[in-house]
Amino acid sequence: MYATINETRPLTWWDYDQVVISEKIVDYEKVTVLGTGSFGTVYLVYYQSRAGTKHKCALKEYIDVDVKDIKRETKILSNLSGKSKYIPLFYQTFVTNNIYSLLMEYCPQVPPHTYYDFTLDHIRVYIYHLLSALETCHSNGIVHADVKPSNLAIDVSTQTLKLLDFGHSIFYFKDHKSTCYVGTVAYKAPEILCKWANYSYPVDLWSTGRVMLDMLIPHQMNRLRGKNIYNQVQQLTEFTGSLAFETLCETYQLPNFKLSPKPPQSLPKYVYTNATPQEKERYKTHFTPAGMDLLERLLSVDPQLRISAKEALAHPFFFTK
Ligand SMILES: Nc1ncnc2c1ncn2[C@@H]1O[C@H](COP(=O)(O)OP(=O)(O)OP(=O)(O)O)[C@@H](O)[C@H]1O
Ligand SMILES: [Mg+2]
Repeated sequence: MYATINETRPLTWWDYDQVVISEKIVDYEKVTVLGTGSFGTVYLVYYQSRAGTKHKCALKEYIDVDVKDIKRETKILSNLSGKSKYIPLFYQTFVTNNIYSLLMEYCPQVPPHTYYDFTLDHIRVYIYHLLSALETCHSNGIVHADVKPSNLAIDVSTQTLKLLDFGHSIFYFKDHKSTCYVGTVAYKAPEILCKWANYSYPVDLWSTGRVMLDMLIPHQMNRLRGKNIYNQVQQLTEFTGSLAFETLCETYQLPNFKLSPKPPQSLPKYVYTNATPQEKERYKTHFTPAGMDLLERLLSVDPQLRISAKEALAHPFFFTK
Protein backbone atom coordinates (compact mmCIF):
# COMPACT_ATOMS: atom_id res chain seq x y z
CA MET A 1 0.00 0.00 0.00
CA TYR A 2 1.13 3.56 -0.83
CA ALA A 3 4.24 2.17 -2.56
CA THR A 4 4.18 4.70 -5.41
CA ILE A 5 2.68 7.80 -3.79
CA ASN A 6 5.79 9.94 -4.26
CA GLU A 7 6.29 8.86 -7.89
CA THR A 8 2.81 10.19 -8.65
CA ARG A 9 3.41 13.57 -7.01
CA PRO A 10 5.40 16.49 -8.44
CA LEU A 11 9.08 17.03 -7.64
CA THR A 12 8.10 19.95 -5.40
CA TRP A 13 6.39 17.47 -3.05
CA TRP A 14 9.41 15.36 -2.23
CA ASP A 15 12.56 17.06 -3.53
CA TYR A 16 13.68 18.56 -0.23
CA ASP A 17 16.95 19.79 -1.78
CA GLN A 18 14.87 22.61 -3.23
CA VAL A 19 13.87 23.91 0.22
CA VAL A 20 15.23 27.39 0.77
CA ILE A 21 16.05 28.27 4.36
CA SER A 22 16.25 32.01 4.66
CA GLU A 23 18.65 33.97 6.82
CA LYS A 24 16.57 36.16 9.09
CA ILE A 25 16.06 37.45 12.58
CA VAL A 26 12.89 36.08 14.11
CA ASP A 27 11.41 37.70 17.18
CA TYR A 28 11.07 35.12 19.96
CA GLU A 29 11.82 34.75 23.63
CA LYS A 30 13.06 31.44 25.05
CA VAL A 31 11.00 30.33 28.06
CA THR A 32 12.31 26.89 28.94
CA VAL A 33 13.97 23.76 27.53
CA LEU A 34 11.39 21.18 26.46
CA GLY A 35 13.83 18.47 25.55
CA THR A 36 17.20 17.63 24.15
CA GLY A 37 18.02 15.04 21.59
CA SER A 38 20.77 13.97 19.24
CA PHE A 39 19.87 16.85 16.90
CA GLY A 40 19.94 19.70 19.37
CA THR A 41 17.61 21.36 21.84
CA VAL A 42 13.88 22.08 21.71
CA TYR A 43 12.67 25.19 23.57
CA LEU A 44 9.29 26.51 24.55
CA VAL A 45 9.32 30.05 23.14
CA TYR A 46 7.04 33.04 22.93
CA TYR A 47 7.04 33.96 19.27
CA GLN A 48 6.05 37.51 18.38
CA SER A 49 4.20 37.69 15.09
CA ARG A 50 4.38 40.74 12.79
CA ALA A 51 0.98 41.82 14.11
CA GLY A 52 2.59 41.98 17.55
CA THR A 53 0.74 39.07 19.17
CA LYS A 54 2.69 36.51 21.21
CA HIS A 55 2.26 32.79 20.54
CA LYS A 56 3.51 29.82 22.55
CA CYS A 57 5.55 27.70 20.13
CA ALA A 58 8.22 24.99 20.16
CA LEU A 59 11.58 25.86 18.60
CA LYS A 60 14.01 23.14 17.57
CA GLU A 61 17.54 24.57 17.49
CA TYR A 62 19.87 22.27 15.58
CA ILE A 63 23.45 21.59 16.62
CA ASP A 64 25.93 20.12 14.11
CA VAL A 65 23.24 18.83 11.77
CA ASP A 66 23.72 18.48 8.03
CA VAL A 67 21.65 21.16 6.22
CA LYS A 68 20.32 18.40 3.97
CA ASP A 69 18.77 16.69 7.00
CA ILE A 70 17.26 19.97 8.23
CA LYS A 71 15.75 20.52 4.78
CA ARG A 72 14.28 17.01 4.76
CA GLU A 73 12.69 17.44 8.20
CA THR A 74 11.38 20.86 7.15
CA LYS A 75 9.89 19.53 3.94
CA ILE A 76 8.28 16.52 5.61
CA LEU A 77 6.77 18.48 8.51
CA SER A 78 5.53 21.26 6.23
CA ASN A 79 3.97 18.68 3.86
CA LEU A 80 2.12 17.05 6.76
CA SER A 81 1.25 20.28 8.56
CA GLY A 82 -2.52 20.73 8.91
CA LYS A 83 -3.30 17.25 7.56
CA SER A 84 -3.69 15.61 10.99
CA LYS A 85 -4.68 16.83 14.46
CA TYR A 86 -2.05 14.45 15.76
CA ILE A 87 0.96 16.02 14.05
CA PRO A 88 2.33 19.44 15.12
CA LEU A 89 1.77 22.36 12.78
CA PHE A 90 4.85 23.63 10.98
CA TYR A 91 5.50 27.39 11.08
CA GLN A 92 8.96 28.09 9.59
CA THR A 93 12.63 27.12 9.44
CA PHE A 94 15.21 29.91 9.46
CA VAL A 95 18.91 30.51 10.03
CA THR A 96 20.36 33.26 12.20
CA ASN A 97 24.13 33.64 12.71
CA ASN A 98 24.64 30.15 11.28
CA ILE A 99 22.18 28.54 13.74
CA TYR A 100 19.30 26.69 12.10
CA SER A 101 15.94 26.61 13.88
CA LEU A 102 12.55 25.08 13.18
CA LEU A 103 9.48 26.76 14.65
CA MET A 104 6.39 24.57 15.18
CA GLU A 105 3.29 24.09 17.29
CA TYR A 106 3.94 23.57 20.98
CA CYS A 107 2.56 20.18 22.07
CA PRO A 108 2.25 19.78 25.85
CA GLN A 109 3.19 16.36 27.19
CA VAL A 110 3.63 14.17 30.23
CA PRO A 111 6.63 11.86 30.54
CA PRO A 112 6.25 8.13 29.83
CA HIS A 113 6.31 7.09 33.51
CA THR A 114 2.64 8.08 33.70
CA TYR A 115 1.91 5.01 31.57
CA TYR A 116 1.32 3.44 35.00
CA ASP A 117 -1.80 5.55 35.33
CA PHE A 118 -3.21 4.65 31.93
CA THR A 119 -6.43 2.69 31.92
CA LEU A 120 -7.20 0.49 28.93
CA ASP A 121 -9.46 3.27 27.63
CA HIS A 122 -6.55 5.74 27.69
CA ILE A 123 -4.42 3.26 25.77
CA ARG A 124 -7.18 2.84 23.19
CA VAL A 125 -7.34 6.61 22.68
CA TYR A 126 -3.58 7.21 22.44
CA ILE A 127 -2.80 4.25 20.21
CA TYR A 128 -5.67 5.32 17.96
CA HIS A 129 -4.23 8.86 17.71
CA LEU A 130 -0.79 7.45 16.95
CA LEU A 131 -2.16 5.18 14.22
CA SER A 132 -4.14 8.07 12.81
CA ALA A 133 -1.00 10.26 12.64
CA LEU A 134 0.84 7.37 10.95
CA GLU A 135 -1.94 6.83 8.42
CA THR A 136 -1.55 10.52 7.48
CA CYS A 137 2.22 10.04 7.10
CA HIS A 138 1.95 6.81 5.10
CA SER A 139 -0.84 7.96 2.79
CA ASN A 140 1.41 10.93 1.99
CA GLY A 141 4.42 8.75 1.19
CA ILE A 142 6.29 9.35 4.44
CA VAL A 143 7.81 6.78 6.82
CA HIS A 144 8.28 8.32 10.29
CA ALA A 145 10.99 5.76 11.19
CA ASP A 146 11.49 6.85 14.81
CA VAL A 147 8.30 6.13 16.74
CA LYS A 148 9.15 5.83 20.45
CA PRO A 149 7.83 7.29 23.73
CA SER A 150 10.15 10.34 23.71
CA ASN A 151 8.78 11.29 20.29
CA LEU A 152 5.17 11.28 21.47
CA ALA A 153 3.59 14.28 23.16
CA ILE A 154 0.74 13.01 25.31
CA ASP A 155 -1.44 15.65 26.93
CA VAL A 156 -3.48 13.92 29.63
CA SER A 157 -5.66 17.00 30.24
CA THR A 158 -7.09 16.89 26.72
CA GLN A 159 -6.35 13.19 26.15
CA THR A 160 -4.50 13.89 22.94
CA LEU A 161 -1.36 12.37 21.50
CA LYS A 162 0.82 14.10 18.91
CA LEU A 163 3.61 12.47 16.93
CA LEU A 164 6.84 14.49 17.08
CA ASP A 165 10.30 14.43 15.56
CA PHE A 166 10.47 13.88 11.82
CA GLY A 167 14.28 14.07 11.95
CA HIS A 168 14.69 10.48 10.74
CA SER A 169 11.66 10.38 8.47
CA ILE A 170 11.97 9.55 4.79
CA PHE A 171 10.04 9.93 1.57
CA TYR A 172 9.32 6.35 0.56
CA PHE A 173 10.42 5.20 -2.90
CA LYS A 174 10.17 1.58 -4.01
CA ASP A 175 13.86 1.02 -4.66
CA HIS A 176 15.28 3.49 -2.19
CA LYS A 177 18.13 2.63 0.12
CA SER A 178 17.89 4.36 3.46
CA THR A 179 20.36 4.25 6.28
CA CYS A 180 19.23 1.78 8.91
CA TYR A 181 19.48 4.38 11.65
CA VAL A 182 19.04 2.42 14.81
CA GLY A 183 19.22 4.79 17.80
CA THR A 184 17.02 3.32 20.52
CA VAL A 185 17.02 -0.40 19.65
CA ALA A 186 14.00 -1.15 21.85
CA TYR A 187 11.52 0.30 19.36
CA LYS A 188 13.16 -0.72 16.09
CA ALA A 189 11.47 -3.12 13.73
CA PRO A 190 13.14 -6.47 13.03
CA GLU A 191 13.91 -5.49 9.41
CA ILE A 192 15.80 -2.38 10.59
CA LEU A 193 17.68 -4.41 13.23
CA CYS A 194 18.57 -6.81 10.41
CA LYS A 195 19.79 -3.84 8.27
CA TRP A 196 17.29 -4.05 5.42
CA ALA A 197 17.91 -0.71 3.69
CA ASN A 198 14.68 -0.91 1.69
CA TYR A 199 12.40 -0.77 4.76
CA SER A 200 9.00 0.81 4.42
CA TYR A 201 5.87 1.96 6.26
CA PRO A 202 5.55 -1.25 8.36
CA VAL A 203 8.54 -0.20 10.53
CA ASP A 204 6.24 2.38 12.17
CA LEU A 205 3.63 -0.25 12.98
CA TRP A 206 6.15 -2.44 14.78
CA SER A 207 7.24 0.56 16.88
CA THR A 208 3.56 1.30 17.63
CA GLY A 209 3.24 -2.27 18.92
CA ARG A 210 6.25 -1.73 21.18
CA VAL A 211 4.78 1.53 22.52
CA MET A 212 1.45 -0.24 23.11
CA LEU A 213 3.27 -2.98 25.02
CA ASP A 214 4.98 -0.34 27.21
CA MET A 215 1.59 1.22 27.95
CA LEU A 216 0.03 -2.15 28.79
CA ILE A 217 2.84 -3.35 31.03
CA PRO A 218 4.80 -0.28 32.23
CA HIS A 219 6.16 -2.33 35.14
CA GLN A 220 8.07 -4.34 32.60
CA MET A 221 9.38 -1.49 30.50
CA ASN A 222 12.87 -2.87 31.05
CA ARG A 223 11.93 -5.96 29.06
CA LEU A 224 12.71 -6.13 25.34
CA ARG A 225 15.36 -3.46 25.77
CA GLY A 226 18.53 -4.93 24.34
CA LYS A 227 21.98 -3.55 25.11
CA ASN A 228 22.78 -3.71 21.40
CA ILE A 229 21.22 -4.95 18.15
CA TYR A 230 22.19 -8.59 18.64
CA ASN A 231 20.98 -8.62 22.22
CA GLN A 232 17.69 -6.98 21.17
CA VAL A 233 17.11 -9.62 18.48
CA GLN A 234 17.89 -12.36 21.02
CA GLN A 235 15.34 -10.92 23.45
CA LEU A 236 12.70 -10.60 20.73
CA THR A 237 13.10 -14.26 19.76
CA GLU A 238 11.77 -15.18 23.22
CA PHE A 239 8.27 -14.61 21.90
CA THR A 240 8.75 -14.46 18.11
CA GLY A 241 10.84 -17.63 18.04
CA SER A 242 14.19 -17.82 16.24
CA LEU A 243 12.77 -19.21 13.00
CA ALA A 244 10.84 -15.97 12.31
CA PHE A 245 14.14 -14.02 12.24
CA GLU A 246 15.92 -16.65 10.15
CA THR A 247 13.08 -16.55 7.62
CA LEU A 248 13.17 -12.74 7.57
CA CYS A 249 16.91 -12.73 6.83
CA GLU A 250 16.50 -15.35 4.10
CA THR A 251 13.52 -13.63 2.47
CA TYR A 252 15.23 -10.25 2.24
CA GLN A 253 18.74 -11.67 1.76
CA LEU A 254 20.17 -10.16 4.90
CA PRO A 255 23.15 -11.41 6.88
CA ASN A 256 21.86 -13.96 9.34
CA PHE A 257 22.31 -13.67 13.10
CA LYS A 258 23.59 -16.81 14.77
CA LEU A 259 20.64 -17.31 17.07
CA SER A 260 20.09 -20.09 19.56
CA PRO A 261 16.95 -22.02 18.54
CA LYS A 262 13.82 -20.87 20.37
CA PRO A 263 10.18 -21.78 19.77
CA PRO A 264 7.60 -19.00 19.30
CA GLN A 265 5.39 -18.11 22.24
CA SER A 266 2.12 -16.23 22.41
CA LEU A 267 2.59 -12.64 23.59
CA PRO A 268 0.19 -12.88 26.56
CA LYS A 269 2.02 -15.99 27.76
CA TYR A 270 5.39 -14.33 27.25
CA VAL A 271 4.32 -11.31 29.28
CA TYR A 272 2.61 -13.37 31.99
CA THR A 273 5.74 -15.41 32.66
CA ASN A 274 7.78 -13.72 35.40
CA ALA A 275 5.02 -11.19 36.18
CA THR A 276 4.69 -10.09 39.79
CA PRO A 277 1.27 -10.32 41.54
CA GLN A 278 0.83 -6.55 40.97
CA GLU A 279 1.51 -6.97 37.26
CA LYS A 280 -0.92 -9.89 37.07
CA GLU A 281 -3.64 -7.63 38.50
CA ARG A 282 -3.07 -5.09 35.70
CA TYR A 283 -3.04 -7.95 33.21
CA LYS A 284 -6.63 -8.80 34.23
CA THR A 285 -7.95 -5.37 33.29
CA HIS A 286 -5.59 -4.45 30.48
CA PHE A 287 -5.23 -7.63 28.44
CA THR A 288 -8.32 -8.28 26.35
CA PRO A 289 -8.49 -10.75 23.44
CA ALA A 290 -8.96 -7.86 20.97
CA GLY A 291 -6.00 -5.92 22.41
CA MET A 292 -3.77 -8.99 22.31
CA ASP A 293 -4.82 -9.69 18.74
CA LEU A 294 -3.92 -6.15 17.63
CA LEU A 295 -0.61 -6.34 19.50
CA GLU A 296 0.32 -9.62 17.84
CA ARG A 297 -0.52 -8.20 14.42
CA LEU A 298 1.61 -5.11 15.09
CA LEU A 299 4.50 -7.19 16.41
CA SER A 300 4.71 -9.48 13.42
CA VAL A 301 8.33 -10.11 12.41
CA ASP A 302 7.57 -10.25 8.69
CA PRO A 303 6.79 -6.67 7.55
CA GLN A 304 4.52 -8.01 4.80
CA LEU A 305 2.31 -9.75 7.35
CA ARG A 306 2.26 -6.80 9.78
CA ILE A 307 -1.04 -4.90 10.00
CA SER A 308 -1.08 -1.48 8.26
CA ALA A 309 -2.11 1.75 10.00
CA LYS A 310 -5.32 1.88 7.97
CA GLU A 311 -6.28 -1.70 8.86
CA ALA A 312 -5.32 -1.20 12.50
CA LEU A 313 -7.60 1.84 12.79
CA ALA A 314 -10.52 -0.46 11.93
CA HIS A 315 -9.45 -3.18 14.42
CA PRO A 316 -12.10 -4.38 16.94
CA PHE A 317 -9.79 -3.31 19.81
CA PHE A 318 -10.98 0.26 19.27
CA PHE A 319 -14.65 -0.62 19.12
CA THR A 320 -15.06 -3.31 21.80
CA LYS A 321 -14.82 -3.12 25.58
N1 LIG B 1 6.51 20.44 19.17
C1 LIG B 1 6.92 20.13 20.39
N2 LIG B 1 6.23 20.48 21.49
C2 LIG B 1 6.66 20.14 22.73
N3 LIG B 1 7.80 19.44 22.97
C3 LIG B 1 8.54 19.05 21.92
C4 LIG B 1 8.16 19.37 20.57
N4 LIG B 1 9.09 18.86 19.73
C5 LIG B 1 9.99 18.26 20.51
N5 LIG B 1 9.70 18.35 21.82
C6 LIG B 1 10.47 17.81 22.96
O1 LIG B 1 11.86 17.87 22.67
C7 LIG B 1 12.44 16.56 22.65
C8 LIG B 1 13.48 16.47 21.55
O2 LIG B 1 12.86 16.77 20.30
P1 LIG B 1 13.09 15.88 19.03
O3 LIG B 1 12.70 14.49 19.38
O4 LIG B 1 12.42 16.52 17.88
O5 LIG B 1 14.66 16.02 18.90
P2 LIG B 1 15.77 15.05 18.36
O6 LIG B 1 17.06 15.69 18.69
O7 LIG B 1 15.48 14.81 16.94
O8 LIG B 1 15.56 13.75 19.20
P3 LIG B 1 16.19 12.28 19.03
O9 LIG B 1 17.21 12.18 20.10
O10 LIG B 1 14.98 11.44 19.33
O11 LIG B 1 16.68 12.08 17.67
C9 LIG B 1 11.26 15.61 22.45
O12 LIG B 1 11.54 14.34 23.01
C10 LIG B 1 10.16 16.33 23.18
O13 LIG B 1 10.24 16.08 24.58
MG1 LIG C 1 13.35 12.66 19.35
